Amino acid sequence: MSRKGKIFLVLTTLLLVVSAFLGGCSSSKQPASSSNSSGKQLAIGIVLPTKDEPRWIQDETRFQDALKDTPYAAEILFSQGDPAKEKANVETLLSKGIKVLILCPHDANAAAASAEAAKKAGVKVISYDRLILNTDAVDYYVTFDSVQVGQQQGQYLVDHATGKGNPLYLYAGALSDNNSFLFFQGAWEVLQPKIADGTFVIANSDKANALKDKKDLTRQEMADIIGQITTNWDFNTAKNLAQANLAKAPKDLKGNVFILAPNDGTARSIADTFAADPDIKSYVITGQDAEKPSIQYIIDGKQSMTVFKDVRILVKDAINVALTYLKGGTPESTKTYNNGVKDVPSKPSPVQVVDKNNVKQVLIDSGYYKESDFKWPK
Ligand code: BGC
Repeated sequence: MSRKGKIFLVLTTLLLVVSAFLGGCSSSKQPASSSNSSGKQLAIGIVLPTKDEPRWIQDETRFQDALKDTPYAAEILFSQGDPAKEKANVETLLSKGIKVLILCPHDANAAAASAEAAKKAGVKVISYDRLILNTDAVDYYVTFDSVQVGQQQGQYLVDHATGKGNPLYLYAGALSDNNSFLFFQGAWEVLQPKIADGTFVIANSDKANALKDKKDLTRQEMADIIGQITTNWDFNTAKNLAQANLAKAPKDLKGNVFILAPNDGTARSIADTFAADPDIKSYVITGQDAEKPSIQYIIDGKQSMTVFKDVRILVKDAINVALTYLKGGTPESTKTYNNGVKDVPSKPSPVQVVDKNNVKQVLIDSGYYKESDFKWPK
């Protein structure tokens, strides 16, 4: 080899070493966690909506546990409630050569573009917990039975109400999340007959009040109501809305009240706000997710119930579907969900009510949480 050739070779090698080193550094800046760095092939990319809610940290932890037993490596990225970041996360994972994308969208419609980019790259798309809407690029939907979540919340309120004229405060999730519709649909199915017969009086939504005699709401009717009572899945929005509702409510819509709160995070904000109002004598409030802070609220009597969605099951389902795809198979399905353009195959998992009476049995005795994670009454 000529001298020039040797210099070229040395320089190229140096460049390669430096860029490999920089590559390693920059990936450690990503909010990423690789399930495994033991030389397994990176095949599964997972994108979760935000680290700001304990719910999604639960999913990350359970994924990390479950992925240890698979022959593939996976990488988990968080979108921090930002559809642009979500898209960038998906592109990063596609460029790393994943074969299956597990995506929990922040915004159901915006995520269609990510699903389509994945499809174009020959990558299978699993919509995780929340359905990606208006694209045929979704292969499978891994989910809990979200209508059942709403039904259980509604039923809990019904079961704890006596007499007539009980004030009912309604709250919902984000309009950009298809689940908010499913939760509300389930709750409304159960609550509506009890609103129509006077057991409950809606205290904070004239749109819901105007539809109180209608059991099956259209998507647009639900959107109108949700638009009025949305927490946007945000603790502060929930608190501000509850404060505004209480500031406007006459005394006869206070006293002993019933509150449909869509999930645990918003339930804690709303519960604290109601507890601080001197005209509220008692409240029954729902939740969902069995987040640790809400389990403590339930033990302390500050939140009435939660709907337990065993994230270990959801994660296991997602990984099984991914492994089936990686083997070239077709995952089992028991139901489809229409996403606007496609009936997406799915196999929804059941959910369970947890309150003060069964919290220990369902969450501690089952090994889901440790007894020492909570302060118990002496
Ligand atoms: C999930 C809930 C979660 C909520 C807010 C929903 O799509 O199903 O478990 O509490 O989003 O993040």
